[in-house]
Amino acid sequence: MTVYAIIGGTGLAQLDGLEIREAVYVETPYGAPSADVLRGVYAGEEVLFLARHGQPHRIPPHQVNYRANLWALRQLGARAVLAINAVGGITPSMTTGQLVVPHQIIDYTHGRAQTLFEGELDHVTHVDFSHPYDEAQRQLLIAALRACGYPFSERAVYGCTQGPRLETAAEIQRMERDGCDIVGMTGMPETVLARELELPYACLSLVVNPAAGKGKGPITMAEIDAALGQGMLKVRRVLQQLLGA
Ligand code: HPA
Repeated sequence: MTVYAIIGGTGLAQLDGLEIREAVYVETPYGAPSADVLRGVYAGEEVLFLARHGQPHRIPPHQVNYRANLWALRQLGARAVLAINAVGGITPSMTTGQLVVPHQIIDYTHGRAQTLFEGELDHVTHVDFSHPYDEAQRQLLIAALRACGYPFSERAVYGCTQGPRLETAAEIQRMERDGCDIVGMTGMPETVLARELELPYACLSLVVNPAAGKGKGPITMAEIDAALGQGMLKVRRVLQQLLGA
């Protein structure tokens, strides 16, 4: 049976409706995860839930201990990961409120610990990352989005920036030329660590603002918060649909 781990991002530090059975602190070889992992029942299914930025939200994207988070979820029996994140929209169809299931990622981060394969190793391993997201999990998300009747994009290239600052307009133009549709700060190294741990991983992104230079004025936290409030209600419906199906 698939035990899903849900990693909640900005706007989803807790999963309303999760019947919590236990909160587990997991010590890992990489230090402490962002928060206790919650084991519980959601939409009738056993799930693990982890707040990526801590509970309450306090860890910025570049300081999240991604290695500890993924390792802890694997250790507790996760067999697939659904990651939720808020993003900026770059290409025209990526308007605020849009739900997106990315199929590719470009990594613009630097200095993040991004592999479990280092130190004293028997052999050097290079994981295949041609297709960073697990297609079966992506299709489950897509089916759930269809069943909910929400408009969504089933393909997008996610560009992951370092943060915590937002991008310049020129950086966004460059990312658009590179082929990015959306921009966020937490996709990497989370996605590749799941691959290293052989955990099928897919991500559901919510567009919460036009990326730098794409909107009318500066990006404000107020506009992001407003989009998160509406959007995360839809995200929860999609998760319920996926798990309950
Ligand atoms: N850029 C990077 N990350 C983000 C954005 C953005 O505009 N919005 C939400 N997360």
